[in-house]
Amino acid sequence: MTLPALPGHPHFAYRGTALFAEDVCVSELAAEHGTPLFVYSKAAMLSALASYQRGFEGRNAQICYAMKANSSLAVLQVFARAGCGFDIVSGGELERVQAAGGDMRQVIFSGVGKTRAEMRQALAAGIGCFNVESEAELGVLSSVALAMGLRAPVSIRVNPNVDPKTHPYISTGLKGNKFGVAHEDAVRIYQHAALLDGLNVIGIDCHIGSQITDVTPYLDAMDRVLDLVAAIEAAGIFLAHIDFGGGLGINYSSDDQPPQADALWQQLLGKLDARGYGGKKLMIEPGRSLVGNAGICVTEVLYLKPGEQKNFCIIDAAMNDLPRPAMYQAFHAIVPVEQAARQAADVLYDVVGPVCESGDWIGRDRLLSVAAGDQLAVLSAGAYCMSMASNYNTRGRGAELLVDGDAARLIRAREPPADTSRPELLLP
Ligand code: LLP
Repeated sequence: MTLPALPGHPHFAYRGTALFAEDVCVSELAAEHGTPLFVYSKAAMLSALASYQRGFEGRNAQICYAMKANSSLAVLQVFARAGCGFDIVSGGELERVQAAGGDMRQVIFSGVGKTRAEMRQALAAGIGCFNVESEAELGVLSSVALAMGLRAPVSIRVNPNVDPKTHPYISTGLKGNKFGVAHEDAVRIYQHAALLDGLNVIGIDCHIGSQITDVTPYLDAMDRVLDLVAAIEAAGIFLAHIDFGGGLGINYSSDDQPPQADALWQQLLGKLDARGYGGKKLMIEPGRSLVGNAGICVTEVLYLKPGEQKNFCIIDAAMNDLPRPAMYQAFHAIVPVEQAARQAADVLYDVVGPVCESGDWIGRDRLLSVAAGDQLAVLSAGAYCMSMASNYNTRGRGAELLVDGDAARLIRAREPPADTSRPELLLP
């Protein structure tokens, strides 16, 4: 069997017949820790971050990791120690940043539905900025801050109405989306915000969607946002920072050709400079592009089930571990952990999990040479997999390991299924 290259995964590679994560043999990890098993490469995370850091060299810029992509505490520690701030969307995420030792002044709080309790929690923690998503939220945040004797630092998320050309569920910057305030209302809403005593207006932000592989929507959004910066500042409201969100895609397959972060930002910074805003503080909120290709999910083949119309390869990971195919028809490459010694012919399989849903597939029409008991690695599983994992079918979530050179550290123990019923109460 010819092994597929591992696109975008420089820290996961075959040595002989065996798949390695950095300098650690993946099948040995699976033998020790069982499957499903998420294996992350610390070097892959840091090299993805380095691409952004190179892009912003010499600039006043702050990278806030959008931790919804992977909020495991040790992953947050990696980014906190590398100097990142965090983009959070809940009080729960705030607690995770605190537990990981993140700098609260570098935390921004996004999301359309912040509760008063979450606002109080974030104000008490001293976060850097609230990314406010509606006029109603501005009023509530102002009154919550005033009651605490504080002024909340705010940026307003504007909706530039550009099409990021991605899956509709992960496109956020179009008029029909629930996010941000409409471009044409922005100046009026900024003027309103400036009059509220509990607010301190400091910036503007946008985020147009996720898994964006084309530069054009970014450039268009940048133009639209800078038009607004000009209009808002002409109305007498100074904006200290521009937060351009996240969204940069990764190559799940060789068909995806996203720009590198440094190359993308070279173009965007060129535009900022050309329009005279190069001196403003820049913030960004990347998630997937920092962690997506830094992780794989190792799984075992349980059964092969040949059929008249389809052959099924049934694995021990399922939609509760890897929800992206079921939710977005997403593609994840699937490769063997150990190149089989047998010379079996490749067979076309649908790779499916044990969950009782037809939607529980991980890969469709994949050519594999496999037998029961073999291990497979689902690639690009560092982002939006464990953080979206559930206990559906009362399945405990898998374990997570962080590899650093030749060392692998357990960062999340396998969840015993019994833990999933711990908060529940039996009837008397
Ligand atoms: N900032 C905001 C305001 C966001 O809503 C998001 C993602 C990000 C930053 C980070 O975007 P990224 O750099 O990761 O693309 N579960 C979906 C993706 C949902 C993205 C939600 N918002 C998936 O698995 O494709």
